[in-house]
This record gives sequence, C-alpha cells and structure tokens, in this order.
Amino acid sequence: MVLKYVFGSPFQTESVVCFPEDGKVFENEKKVPFGKISFEDGFSISVPLDEKTLVFGLGEAMGGINKRGKIYRSWCTDEPNQVEDKESLYGAHNFLMIYSPKTKECSALFIDYPSLVTYDVGFTFKDELKISLKKADLNLYFIKADRNAEETSSSEETSDSENIQENILYKTVRIFRKMIGKSYLPPLWAFGFMQSRWGYGSEKDLSEVYENFRKHKIPLDAIFLDIDYMKDFRDFTVDEKKFKDFGKTVRNLKEKNVHIVPIIDAGIPSEPEKDETCKAGTEKGFFCRMKDSSLFKAGVWPGLSVFPDFLNPEAGKWFASNFEKLTSKGIDGFWIDMNEPALFYSEQGVFHLISESEKTFKEIDRNFFSLWHIKDEVLKVQNKTEDYESFYHKVPSPEAGGFSENFSSGASLENSRDFSYVRHDLVHNLYGFKMTKCVSEFLSGSLGKNSFLLFSRASFTGSHRFAGIWTGDNCSWWSHLELFIKQLPSLNMLGFIYSGCDLGGFGGNVSRELLLRFLGIGVFTPLMRNHSALGTREQEFYKFENPEDFANLVSFRYRIIPYLYAEAEKCAEEGKMLFRPLSFDYENDEIALRIEDQLMLCDDLMIAPVYKPNASGRFVYIPEEMTMFRCTKEKGLKTGEGEKTSLSRGSYYIPYEKDEIVFFMKKGRRIPVCDAAENTALLDKTTAKFWEG
Ligand code: GLC
Repeated sequence: MVLKYVFGSPFQTESVVCFPEDGKVFENEKKVPFGKISFEDGFSISVPLDEKTLVFGLGEAMGGINKRGKIYRSWCTDEPNQVEDKESLYGAHNFLMIYSPKTKECSALFIDYPSLVTYDVGFTFKDELKISLKKADLNLYFIKADRNAEETSSSEETSDSENIQENILYKTVRIFRKMIGKSYLPPLWAFGFMQSRWGYGSEKDLSEVYENFRKHKIPLDAIFLDIDYMKDFRDFTVDEKKFKDFGKTVRNLKEKNVHIVPIIDAGIPSEPEKDETCKAGTEKGFFCRMKDSSLFKAGVWPGLSVFPDFLNPEAGKWFASNFEKLTSKGIDGFWIDMNEPALFYSEQGVFHLISESEKTFKEIDRNFFSLWHIKDEVLKVQNKTEDYESFYHKVPSPEAGGFSENFSSGASLENSRDFSYVRHDLVHNLYGFKMTKCVSEFLSGSLGKNSFLLFSRASFTGSHRFAGIWTGDNCSWWSHLELFIKQLPSLNMLGFIYSGCDLGGFGGNVSRELLLRFLGIGVFTPLMRNHSALGTREQEFYKFENPEDFANLVSFRYRIIPYLYAEAEKCAEEGKMLFRPLSFDYENDEIALRIEDQLMLCDDLMIAPVYKPNASGRFVYIPEEMTMFRCTKEKGLKTGEGEKTSLSRGSYYIPYEKDEIVFFMKKGRRIPVCDAAENTALLDKTTAKFWEG
C-alpha cells in the first residue's frame, strides 16, 4: 500500500517516476494515520517509536544501520571531516523504514522535498522520530507492505530456512525502488580494480602507475585523473605541458585494456576572457545569478568560479555537451565532483570576514580572548548558509511549485510563464542530482546506455537512475572502514548499487594493514577504487612491502566479477539489494536484527569484514547453517577453491588474516568463480567453476 500526501505546492523533484496504480493520493490533510503532523515553523511529523523498534535508511548518512539515537540533516555537504557527530554528508536520501519486532510490521516514509530535512531519530526523546522541514510544500509517501501480497518480480529465489520473498523489510524496499526507477549500471570494466590519487595528472603519472601494476601483476582496469590533468583546474581543458597528445595516451592505454577516467567539477572559473566554457555559458545566461542578476561567484579549485544552473534543463544540456571534448579523445568514464555545490568562499563571505577581523584586532588589547572569534569566522566562510541563500536557479515554472520567488517590482530577475526563479537553498539538494542527470543523459546519447562509467559525489533520491556514487572524503581510519560497512546496505535501499568508498581512505596516512582490510570489503563492492589525497602517504599497493598480498586479494575480486556483475544487473533491474542488513533475511532472529557489522551479499552470501587493527580474526554470527569459504594465497584467492567449513547456527570466533578473504554461503547455493585475469577484457567466463555451499 502506498499513500501519497501532498502538502502545499511541492517542487517537482523527479525522484518518483512510477506511482503504483493502486496507490492513493490525499491533498492537504490535517491528519495522517502514522503520526502527528504540525504546520508550526514549516512542517513536522512526529512518529512514536516503541523501545525495540528499529529505524533503517537515510542512505549515505553517518551512523549505524539502525539509525536510532542520532540527529541527521539531509543537506548535501562537502564534508572532509567525517567525525562521528557530523549530521550531513554529500547525499540527501530521505527514505526511512520503521520496523517493529513486536508487531512484525514495517512502514516506510519518503519525504520528497529538495531542501534541508532534519531527522531526530530518538535523540531528543527516546521514543519519538521527528522529521522537520522549513516549508509545508512537499510530497510525503507512506509505504506499508503487505506480507501476504504477491511479489513485484517473478524471478525470486528462495532460501532453505527462510523465504526472503516474505521478508517485510525487503518487500518494503522493493516497493519504494519500483517507485524511484531502475538503477544505473556501468559497463563490466567498471567492476575491475581502479587506481586513483589526487596528484595524478600527466602522461608520466599514468604510465608509471600502469607499469607498476603490470610489474607486480596486480589486475587493473582504470586509472583516474584528478584536477591536475586540467589547465589551471579548468573543466574541459587538458594541460598540454603534461600531455603531448592526450587522445593518443588514452587510446594507447585503452588498447592495453586500461581506461582513463578524468574528473569534472561543478564550478567553472570566472574568467570569460581566458576560459571558453565561462565565456559561452555567460553569453547564454547559463550560470546561477544573484537577485540583481549579477553572476554568483565563489571560490573552488580553479579560484573564483561561476556555477552552471543545472536546474535549468537548457543549461544542463549545454554543460553536458562539453563532455564531447573528452569523449572524442576516447574517454568513456568520468567522476563528477564538488557538486553539492562546495563553496570554499564567496566574495561577500571574505569581505565579512575581513570586517569582523578588523573589529576584533581593534579590540585585542582589551579582550585577548576574542581572537577565538576569528577562528570561528574563518571556518564559517566555507559552505556558508548566507551564500547558499544568495543565488537563484531558473526553473521551468511547472516544476517550481510554491518555491518560486515573488520578487518585488524592480528586481532584475523576473519570473515568466515558462520560467520561475528559485532561491538555491530551497532546492539545494537537487544541484548534484541535476548535474548527474544531464551528464548521464549526454553520455547515454553519445556513447550508449550502460557503456560509460559515471559516478558523482553529491546525490539525491533518484540519482541512482543516472550514475553511481562514492562516499567522498573519508579518512584512513578504522572507524571509516566500519562506517562504510553500515553505509552500503543503506545506499542499496535507495538504489545506489554502483557505489563504493575511497579504499584505503582519502585523508590521512594509511597503514599496510588498514589498506588490506579495506580491500577485505572492497573486493565485493561494485565500485572498487583506491583513492587518496594530495600530501598523504602514497597508497598504491606497490608502495608497500609484499605487494603480492594485495595482488592476491585483487585477483580474487576478478574471479567473482562475472557473478557480481550478474547480481548487480538483477539488483538494478529488479529493485533488489546487493548488500542487505542481516535483518532483511532473518527478520525473526533477534540477534540478526541487531547485527551491524556483517552483511548479506547478493542472494547467496554473507560477509563479515574485519575492521579492527591488529586483529587476527573476529566473532561472526551465523544465522543459519552456512558454508564458510576461507581463501588464502594457496587456496582460493588466485586459483583453486577456498577451504570449506560447514557451520551451524551460532557465534564463532573466526581466524581471519589480513591477506585472506573469508565469506559464508547459504546451504544449497552456489556461485560461479572463474580464473583471475589481468583485466576484465581478459576474463574468461568459460573457466568458471561452481563453489557450492
Ligand atoms: C574533493 C574530492 C576528492 C578529490 C579532490 C581534488 O575533495 O572529494 O576525491 O581528490 O576534491 O579534486
């Protein structure tokens, strides 16, 4: 059952593409059956939670698989400092599920709203979920799956002990996924291992990486280029000093089955005399503007920049058409970044900081302590609320709903019948989504559906139809390895099947052990990329002792690529999840329900990654009889079959060294495992042998 509640005049976000035929629509109700709504200070909804109720969802958000006990703010944020109490990351994913083990009922809410949504999940009051927004203009969807109703898809398999078809949590997700559409899937090579680092930007860098991977026999399918390949960090340019013939370099590597994947950022340098893209976009009126119609400018990597108005479909089309400058050179994969949009500073922000500092310095002899105030002011310059409130998007009027600005007469920006101006902060969470959409549509048209790699940093519910995502600037921390385990199933609930994190961690210096343990989960995630920040310890595998240990783990990944890809295809098409919390398969198992550090993978497997330092194993809960496969360098990683052990239901301490892969298979299941290869183009599916549980 799906109920849609329309309040006020919502912005048409494009998140939902298919509303169920038997769904019901209600307009401007004062009461809803699942909680209390209030129109004070915008809109809020309060849902009672009993003590044992679990809350799942919210996609990329920080926190556990069970979201209780924390506040989350759905606001796309450039957040390089991902410490535990942060409330927002790069994605805005307003879907959550409430499951009561007592009643065995599950209901879900999707808040279709393009700006800030705050979720207080039992933090202020332990028994209350409170969702608040600033405007009472939204579509609110309530989903309640019927355990006995027929499945949406026919190609279900069943488990021996429990029929996952009947799992109410999984069923609920699948109803939602049907509403938001099928997921993007890249070509097979994008499931191969990919090497990246902020700093790679020349022909020399690329050949060095390639040669080293070959020398150490580590499989590889792609090398990434970060902003350094561009001329002065300007989109759609290539620094000719670093690349004599960019097209030739790309083609040469492609002949060796290695794809080059450059980055494209949202900001365009504000230099119309020097920058072609800036000149063309300014002439066409395709950049975001302030109320007085001057261009909105803020600092990002290229310096003071202007921002394409992705909410204006014509502007989006034009921006995306520039990708041809790179696809014509043989590029078939991109990562798009800084599209929250990240704003390092604005001119207004810097002037404000200067005047605050001047005031403080004048008072310094009277109040030394006030110096701290400047520190806070400096930090506030970045991603400043006032900046997000200062610029506008030109949006097709039918989409804008009650979000269009009513300018007083005399303003330079004016609404027309076809277009309305909408202040950025009111639609903030759509910016990265719309960028992803226009780029994906362009690449689909020019290279063909499913034949390009694209993933984005910022995202919104619905982005999954157009690209994958990565989880942004994590750190080389054990806690971020653990966080990633919790993010994966939540991302899958929203259809982000092609997703991954910076393996090894982006910020900070990675240890050999942590990098190996990151690979322990990375071998299973569709997006498998090692990426790190400028200035951190170099984390290419061959920079560490015994690179063959890394090569073995990556080889194992290649052995399961055909299986993983086929499973991901099913997930994308049929609204299934590649990674699930254990509760999605074992709803009636009180222990499984609370497990946060093991995941179900595809239909057949369970994984339990090690995420603690200096560990030579971990405790694993086996929810039903399973076969454990231990893959070592002698058996299973590179050749042969992993060592099998049958385990009945219960808890076990499993020895699990960092150069091994351990996973668990449900009884009666089997997966194809083929021979390892240097890259996906050389994988030979006919070598597959079944590993049976
Ligand atoms: C951002 C991205 C990171 C990239 C860097 C430089 O921080 O998240 O992946 O390396 O910008 O482009």
